[in-house]
Amino acid sequence: MAKETLTVRDDRTGKEYVIPIELGSIRATDLAQIKTGPDDGGLVSYDPAFMNTAACKSKVTFIDGDRGILHYRGYPIEELAEKSTYLETAYLIVKGELPTTSHLAMWRHNITMHTMVHENLKRFMQGFRYDAHPMGMLVGTVGALSTFYPDARDVMDLESRRMQTRRLIGKIPTIAAFAYRHSRGLPYVYPDNDLSYTGNFLSMLFRMTELKYRPDPVLEHALEVLFILHADHEQNCSTTAARVVGSALADPYSVVAAAAAALSGPRHGGANEEVVHMLREIGSMNNIPALIKQVKAGERRLMGFGHRVYKNYDPRAKIIKEVAYQVFEVTGRSPLIDIALELEKIALDDEYFVKRKLYPNVDFYSGIIYDAMGFPVEMFPVLFAIPRTSGWMAQWAEMVLDEEQRIARPRQVYIGRDLRSYPPLDARRDVGAQETEVRGPL
Ligand SMILES: CC(C)(COP(=O)(O)OP(=O)(O)OC[C@H]1O[C@@H](n2cnc3c(N)ncnc32)[C@H](O)[C@@H]1OP(=O)(O)O)[C@@H](O)C(=O)NCCC(=O)NCCS
Repeated sequence: MAKETLTVRDDRTGKEYVIPIELGSIRATDLAQIKTGPDDGGLVSYDPAFMNTAACKSKVTFIDGDRGILHYRGYPIEELAEKSTYLETAYLIVKGELPTTSHLAMWRHNITMHTMVHENLKRFMQGFRYDAHPMGMLVGTVGALSTFYPDARDVMDLESRRMQTRRLIGKIPTIAAFAYRHSRGLPYVYPDNDLSYTGNFLSMLFRMTELKYRPDPVLEHALEVLFILHADHEQNCSTTAARVVGSALADPYSVVAAAAAALSGPRHGGANEEVVHMLREIGSMNNIPALIKQVKAGERRLMGFGHRVYKNYDPRAKIIKEVAYQVFEVTGRSPLIDIALELEKIALDDEYFVKRKLYPNVDFYSGIIYDAMGFPVEMFPVLFAIPRTSGWMAQWAEMVLDEEQRIARPRQVYIGRDLRSYPPLDARRDVGAQETEVRGPL
C-alpha cells in the first residue's frame, strides 16, 4: 500500500522532511519545521482567499464541484428538494440526522414558539430610515438580538446553543419580513403560527387587510425548495465569517450578524440581483448576441454563470429551473425567463463557455423567481440569509465543539518596511501625494 506521507526536499538546505498526509491533506503547521537556520520562523503556506486551504473538518455539507454533487449530511440535494421541507432540512443540518415524526413535530413547535420578537426589537427596527436597505436592517437587528438574550454568551452550554438556534431560525423570517414592510412603509405583520414556516413568511410579507392570509401553495412550496437549496454550502465566505467570529467565542447573534454582513456583499449574496439587472438591461432577444460578444471580449461577465467550486454544473440550478416554471403558473411568465433561456442556450453551445466550464449557477434562476414573486432586488440577499441561518448555526456549533479549533488567527507574509527610527514631527519632510507610500489604501 502507498505510504500516506509527503516527502519534501528543501533546496536551500538540502534537507528532506517527511510530512504525514491525513484525509487528503497535510497540516500547514508541519511546514513550520522547514527552516534555513535557528532564526528562521519556519515555512508558512501562503494562500490568499483560502484557495486551497481547509480550515476545518466538517460533517455538515459535501460538495464535489467537478461532478456537480451537493449533499447535506449525506443526503443528495435533489432528494431533499423533492421530498423534504425547509424545517425538516434545517433539523437535519443542525442535528445531523433526519427527525422522527415526534422529533419533527417538537422541532416545528419549538421553532414556531420563537417567531415573535420583543416589542423593543420592533421599535428598534422602526428607528431605521424609511429607505434603509433591508439587508442592513437585518444585519443590525440580528446583532441587536444579542442584547435581548444575554444567556447566549454561554456558548459552551448545549441548552443555550439549542435555545439560540431555535430563536434564530424562528425569528429571522420575522425580522426579514419587518425589514421588507419597513421599506414599503407598511405596518409590520405579526407571525401567524398556524401557517407553515414559508407560509407564515409570505403572510408577514404580503398580508394586507384580510383577516386570515392564505398563502398560495405553489409559492409556499417554491420558497420551501429555494430555502432547502440555500440552507448550507460548506465553507463559503459567510460561513467562514461565522466560524472566524465564533472562534473568539462571540455569542451566536453576533456570529450570524457577521455572517449576514459577509452575505450582503455583491460577490456573495448579490449575484442574483446582478442577474436581474443584466437581463433587464438586455431587454430583448435581439440584444443577446451583442452581450455575448462583449463577454467573450472580456469586457464583462455573464452574471449567474460560472462558480468557484462547480466546474461541471450547479446541481441547484437544475432544481430551481423547474421551480421557476411552477412559479410562473401563478405569477404569469416573467419576460426575463425567455431572455435567460436564450442566453443559456447560446452560452452552453459556445466554445468560450464550454472551454471554461461556465454553466448557469443557482443565482441565474433564483433572481428571476424572486422578481416574479414581487420581491425588490434589495430583498434577494435577505431571502438568502433566512435559510442559511441553519447552516451558519450548524457550522458554528461544530466549530465551538471542535477541540482542534482555537481562535482563528492566520499568519501573514510581511512585506512592509524594515526597522526604522521615529523622527520628530518637525523633522518630517512634507512628501507629495505622488510619493506612493503616503498614498496608501485608505
Ligand atoms: C463565480 C465566479 C466568481 C467564479 O470565479 P472563479 O472560479 O475565480 O473563475 P475565474 O474568475 O478564474 O474565471 C475563469 C475563466 O472563466 C471566465 N469567466 C468566469 N466566469 C465568467 C462569467 N460569468 N462570464 C464570462 N466569463 C467568465 C474568466 O474570465 C476566466 O477566463 P480566462 O481564463 O480567459 O481569464 C465567476 O464565475 C463569476 O464572476 N461569475 C459571475 C457572478 C456569479 O454568477 N456569481 C455567483 C456565484 S454563485
